[in-house]
Parts: sequence; structure tokens; C-alpha cells
Amino acid sequence: MNTTQERIIIFDTTLRDGEQCPGATLNIDEKLTIAKQLARLGVDVIEAGFAFASPGDFEAVSKIAQVVGTQDGPVICSLARARHEDIKTAAIAIKPAAKGRIHTFIATSDIHLKYKLKKTRSEVIAIAEEMVAYAKTFTDDVEFSPEDAGRSEPEFLYQVLERAIAAGATTVNIPDTVGYTTPSEFGALIKGIKENVPNIDQAIISVHGHNDLGLAVANFLEAVKNGARQLECTINGIGERAGNAALEELVMGLHVRRQYFNPFFGRSIDSEEPLTNIDTRQIYKTSRLVSNLTGMLVQPNKAIVGANAFAHESGIHQDGVLKNKLTYEIMDAQLVGLTENQIVLGKHSGRNAFRTRLRELGYELTETELNKAFVRFKEVADKKKEISDWDLQAIVIDEIQQAPDLFRVELVQVSCGSNARPTATVTLRTPEGEELIDAAIGTGPVDAVYKAINRVVNVPNQLIEFSVQSVTAGIDAIGEVTIRLKHEGRVFSGHAANTDIIVASAQAYVNALNRLYASLQNKQQQVVAKNLS
Ligand code: KIV
Ligand code: ZN
Repeated sequence: MNTTQERIIIFDTTLRDGEQCPGATLNIDEKLTIAKQLARLGVDVIEAGFAFASPGDFEAVSKIAQVVGTQDGPVICSLARARHEDIKTAAIAIKPAAKGRIHTFIATSDIHLKYKLKKTRSEVIAIAEEMVAYAKTFTDDVEFSPEDAGRSEPEFLYQVLERAIAAGATTVNIPDTVGYTTPSEFGALIKGIKENVPNIDQAIISVHGHNDLGLAVANFLEAVKNGARQLECTINGIGERAGNAALEELVMGLHVRRQYFNPFFGRSIDSEEPLTNIDTRQIYKTSRLVSNLTGMLVQPNKAIVGANAFAHESGIHQDGVLKNKLTYEIMDAQLVGLTENQIVLGKHSGRNAFRTRLRELGYELTETELNKAFVRFKEVADKKKEISDWDLQAIVIDEIQQAPDLFRVELVQVSCGSNARPTATVTLRTPEGEELIDAAIGTGPVDAVYKAINRVVNVPNQLIEFSVQSVTAGIDAIGEVTIRLKHEGRVFSGHAANTDIIVASAQAYVNALNRLYASLQNKQQQVVAKNLS
């Protein structure tokens, strides 16, 4: 294998490192939905999880391998510590994929060796070598990561990498685990690896990094200039602590500035050949999907996918853009899949028009999904005369990508206002089909609704985040509610969209409670299975 690749390999770790951030917990169906969208986006590798971590993780990796890991689909990868049982479990989980990878890691910084692993350098080298060779007995595609490489002594790193490659690693990944390095340091680290690891031409150099100092993307771009050809990143940059390098920023950085980067790939400056395989028009949709399912909101000023990323507020800028977009825009919003917010449909639009517009927006729904979404569209169209593309996207995401359907909101009624005690009545349908009604008084209408719902569902939890955003401008806009709640240290998120924000609030809350409820049921099943075995 040659490290001078023609292009960059995009390794998406949204479902592994991204899911590690508090509250981003996804169920298997949600992970599968995201994996399918990542395949549409065109990522080369999906790190689908850490199979040994839990039975749920194992099942998710295995399901993704089976459904998304087709011959012309992405490589499906599982993380594994450098331990036999981890590697074996990862191997079983990725087996259904046409192309499967095992990603094994062990720390190499002195601080990790001394305090975490309590091992000597030679012990670490021996483990890395043995475990890469063991992984190789299951698949040809083995990635090795020296964890905390950013703070490891380079000379030691060179030795570990050389032995891992000799044992069969086809990708060596250099993680800046704690987000400590600066761009020039990280670039120099990659350069040093290229120059000092004798067999480096037999592996791809990959980079992985966290954003503790806000430098992850800059570090990666410097690494690319010095020979890195695989980038490990997540959608919206979600991940442990301050997150991982954001996929959309890396891809658009390489695309918009391709004339700058082309020479580092041995191309002519003017080459129009894309540097990644990503279909950039899928970026915005993927970002929305991940944000809605994880409950991790995207900050408005976030590069590429933030609500303000393409908005021009100042008069001077607006004037310039009207005269020629290039005055203040370095990329076209449509390039990342942001459609003009056209008013497209209304109350009288039929199923065909609905389906056609969704197709144009890139949503391929099954017949059942289409039926569900169409019923919802009609309900919204009854209340809101003009339905725009953004409304359509909110409807589809809300209706199709729901949490497990355990409790369902049947009715929400509130009475509130000045000089009134906010009171709510709610009716929920239980998983068994029973209708349960309760009422409560709160400090405001949402509080009253949540108290009433709690009386029905009866699972202790603490609401830690509540946010309402409008999908479009206008008094009749659809409101999107995202919430996060905590139960025994774990965070669960919920999302819903409705023209009535009190109803959306109730649905988002029930959505999160359903996730919490499903995880409790899972736990119970695991205990029963353990007792039986
Ligand atoms: O940040 C890190 O070091 C990791 C490794 C497991 C690659 O996530
Ligand atoms: Zn990481």
C-alpha cells in the first residue's frame, strides 16, 4: 500500500467517539438511520461502535455491518482495546460487512503508561504487536492507534508504529487524545513519523483529535500537508469533552481551498478532482439528523452548518452579496445542501407533489414512512398555509426518525395566562394500548405539562435542558423543541416539531422518556438473561 493516496479517506466516528458525549446516547434504530445517511454522504469508513463495550454496542455494530456494510458501501469498523476478548468481539460484530475493519489501540504517553496502564514501554510494544497480529487473523484491514500520541515521546512512537505495521496494521492512526497539540506541532509529528518509521509506506497515516483548544480541524489540515491521508471526524464535531474534529469543516476546507491543498497530493494547482469522496450536498441534512437524534444542538455560528453560517446581517454585506455573491461568500450554501427556503406546498398539495419534493430534497422514504409523514404534513398544512422546504424537513425528521414508540401523546390541554395558575391535562397511550390521563399545576404551561406527564410515566428524572427553535420565520412557524433529561447519571434527549410549541414540548419530553424507558427495559432484560445463564 502506498501512503501517497490520490485523495483523503474520511473515517467517520460519530457513532463511536461522537456518541461518547453526555446525552448523545442513541438506540440501535437511530444508529442505523445515521449509518445509512453516512453512507449516502459518502464516508469511506464508519466506526460503528465499540463492540465489546456493551451488548447494545455489539448489536449496533453488527446490524450496521449487515445493513450498511455492502460491497459498494463503506468499510465498517469496530473499536477494540488491545485485548484478546475485545478484538474477538469486534471481529464477530463486523463479520457481516463486506469490508470490515478492527481498530485496536493502546496508550503510548508516559503519563498513561505510568498511571493508567502501569506498564513499561517494552510491554506496550509487545502488546501492540501481539494484538495487531491477533486482529489480523480475523481481517486484513487492521488499524492501530497509539492513544495520546500527541503527548507521547516521538522516538518511542516511531518504534511502536514500526512494530505495529510489521505485525500487519494497514492504517496507523495518530490521536491527539486530549486536544493538546498546536497545528505546527501536529504537522511536525506527522512529518517525523513519515521520515522515521522505516516501513511507513506500508500503511496509511490517519489522524484523530479532540477540540479542547479548538484546534482539531487546523491540526488535521496541517497533518494532511505532511502526509496524513485518513481523517477521523464526527458530524457537527460532537464527541468526548469539547468534541472531535468536525467532518463538515474538514471536507469543505479541503474543497473550498483545493487549489491550496492540491500540490500536497501531487496534483496540479487547478485540478478540480475532489479531494474526498463526500457528496457535499448531503452535509446539511446529515448535520440536522445527527443533531435531532442526539439532542446536541448546533450553535448558530457554527461553521458550515450553523443557522447563521450563510446569513448576511450587515447592510454593507447584504448590498455586496446582492451585487455579486462572491463579495462575501466563499462557498455556495447549496453546495452543502442548504436549499433556498422556497414555499413549495400547501393544504391542497397531494401525495405525489409531497413525495416528489421530498425526493428532490434527497429523502427516499418507504411507503409506510411516506404515509406517516403525509398524514403529518396534512395536519401541519391545515394550520400553516404555506409549507416550505425547511418545514418539510422538520416534518420528515420528526415523523420518521422517532425514539422507540412506547408512550404516545394523545392529548395535551393547558390553561394559563396572567392571573391564572398554569394547569395541564395530558393523555398518554401506554405501550399496551391503555389510555392514561393525569393533570398537574406548574410554574408555567410547559412545567405543568411535564409534571402531568411525570405522574403518568412515573420514572424519576431531572430536566437539564430545554430549547425551542423556530424552523422558519413567521408567527405560524413550526417550533422545534429539544430537551435533555438525566436519570441516574445518564442523559437522554428528545426532539419534536409542531406548530404548537406546548404540544412539541410534550412530544419531545415523551420522546426522551421513551428512550429512558427503553434503556431501563434493556437493563432488566440483561439482568434476567444473566440470571438464567
Ligand atoms: O481520542 C482517542 O485517542 C481515541 C482513540 C481510541 C483513537 O478515541
Ligand atoms: Zn477520540
